[in-house]
Amino acid sequence: MRALYTKGIIVELSEVVPWGRTLSEYRKIFSLTSDDLGKKILGCGDGPASFNVELNTNGGNVTSIDPIYQFSPDQIRSRIEEVYPQIMDQVSKNHTDYVWNDIESVEELGKVRMEAMNIFLRDYENNQKTGRYIKASLPTLSFDDGEFELALCSHYLFLYSEHVNLNEHIQSMKELCRVAKEVRVYPLLSISNNEESSHLHPVKVELERDGVNVSLVPVKYEFQKGATRMLVAKNV
Ligand SMILES: C[S@@+](CC[C@H](N)C(=O)[O-])C[C@H]1O[C@@H](n2cnc3c(N)ncnc32)[C@H](O)[C@@H]1O
Repeated sequence: MRALYTKGIIVELSEVVPWGRTLSEYRKIFSLTSDDLGKKILGCGDGPASFNVELNTNGGNVTSIDPIYQFSPDQIRSRIEEVYPQIMDQVSKNHTDYVWNDIESVEELGKVRMEAMNIFLRDYENNQKTGRYIKASLPTLSFDDGEFELALCSHYLFLYSEHVNLNEHIQSMKELCRVAKEVRVYPLLSISNNEESSHLHPVKVELERDGVNVSLVPVKYEFQKGATRMLVAKNV
């Protein structure tokens, strides 16, 4: 599951590898309580996840940012159809890198992901009305300081440590801590070797130097083998 994240700006549709998760997965990934679900949330790098529409239709308040929102629903749909067989093939080949508990097979994974992405696409068709999907790229966001109570970043920072360098990680985390009172990031492993990202420690040190409280918290979710913790950063 590789994508090119050159300087954080995606310019070609061919650079996009759309793959989206559900509200139920986000709840487990980030240990979201019912109190959390009522907060004003920024979903960072949400791509074609159904998290935004599922929570908003249940009374939530989520805004998502992602560079892929520069593309139309039809463009994203056709890119999903193009890369889906390649992703499934890669997951089958690397089957032992994953924990097959909640999702029991590669086929089930494909079904769950396609359902999530189709739910997203139907909602994204109405984005001109709802405005809940905003084209933007870390490390620069146009939101005000403290505009969100909680920012969530699923499967972008730390995961793509080979594509996004340390300085971009530090600037991105500082930016997320600027716009949100609390930031949660998962997973903390790099996709290239399934080991803890080499950026994790220096990012933690840098945020703590700025007075941000950083902790690594166990979660009750594991699909990428060994990905059992999230980073929680809180402005104090
Ligand atoms: C693997 S997908 C994860 C999608 C979703 N968060 C989920 O967990 O289902 C990674 C996402 O990061 C987005 N991304 C890439 N570069 C980014 C950047 N500079 N800032 C924010 N998001 C970015 C991609 O477009 C893609 O949608």
